[in-house]
Amino acid sequence: MTQITIRRPDDFHLHLRDGARMRDALGFSARVFGRAMIMPNLRPPVTRLGEALEYRKRILEALPEASNFAPLMSLYLRDETSVEDIREASESGVVMAAKLYPAGATTNSSSGVTEIGKMGPVFEEMSECRMPLMVHAEVTDQEVDIFERERVFIETILAPLVEEYPALKVVLEHASTADAIAFVRQARPGVAATITIHHMLLSRNDILVGGLKPHHYCLPVVKTERDRRAIVEAATSGDTRFFAGTDSAPHPRSAKECSGAAAGIFSAPVAVPLYAQLFEQAGALDRLEAFLSLNGAAFYGLPPNEEMIVLEKFPLEVPVDLPFGDERVVPLWAGREVQWRLRAI
Ligand code: DOR
Ligand code: ZN
Repeated sequence: MTQITIRRPDDFHLHLRDGARMRDALGFSARVFGRAMIMPNLRPPVTRLGEALEYRKRILEALPEASNFAPLMSLYLRDETSVEDIREASESGVVMAAKLYPAGATTNSSSGVTEIGKMGPVFEEMSECRMPLMVHAEVTDQEVDIFERERVFIETILAPLVEEYPALKVVLEHASTADAIAFVRQARPGVAATITIHHMLLSRNDILVGGLKPHHYCLPVVKTERDRRAIVEAATSGDTRFFAGTDSAPHPRSAKECSGAAAGIFSAPVAVPLYAQLFEQAGALDRLEAFLSLNGAAFYGLPPNEEMIVLEKFPLEVPVDLPFGDERVVPLWAGREVQWRLRAI
């Protein structure tokens, strides 16, 4: 097959940043995705409806002319988040989900939730409003090895939470382990996972072998080859509980090529072509549309995008870096070839 026509995809996990950096990053997503779930981990974070509305306005203003890209907004849960915050956000029709970052788990998560056990009223309200909870599923305990943090979070926090709030819709974000895939497969209805292109593509060898590769460092960190294969298998299986969320998270070169490199992979420019490439390798191109364009929308109760896009087999070299405010950002697969491209309309 040398070309494939699918409904316009959605990205259910995207970091757009703000200001000049956002203006540079946004076009890559808006070109190919119809909608994206915008992560709220700005500094300061997007914690209430008013902030989400303002951020959404800045995104819409920064969009390229004639773009129909729709940002779906999310709230950042804190210890202080109230039932009213959730209700008001849900009634707006603009905020589609709330994100649970255990405090300290990742970039800009320091004001995240410190005691998940105290969030009961918020989770009850979200269940009532049918507002999905997006979870960064990693424990933050220093004693837990970084490669074990997702598995331990699932066992000790997520599995009990899913049972305690049976009507809460839950998305395990950026599944990075075979354990996460197994958890979603056996979970009750209303539990799903997003899958990034980098967790399908990379294992920890790609960070640690042949020189340290900070541009492959993200959280949750990519894991073993066995985990990677389980993730590819889930994404390409046709199971509707798995859908695309790129977690594209740009950081300037200066924040990646230094001591204490920031976590995050800028995949937006290559995400859809690389997803297509991996689905092709798995012999599953016929399931690409479900993963990219149907399963996520259905989970969130949204109609699929009406427009179609055409992907064609055409090798292209990925630029070594791209403008990012007054700096540069290195995209995923920089300097390497991708086998598919979006046909210009
Ligand atoms: O790698 C990551 N980068 N993981 C996250 O959870 C946050 C993100 C970011 O905002 O840079
Ligand atoms: Zn993220």
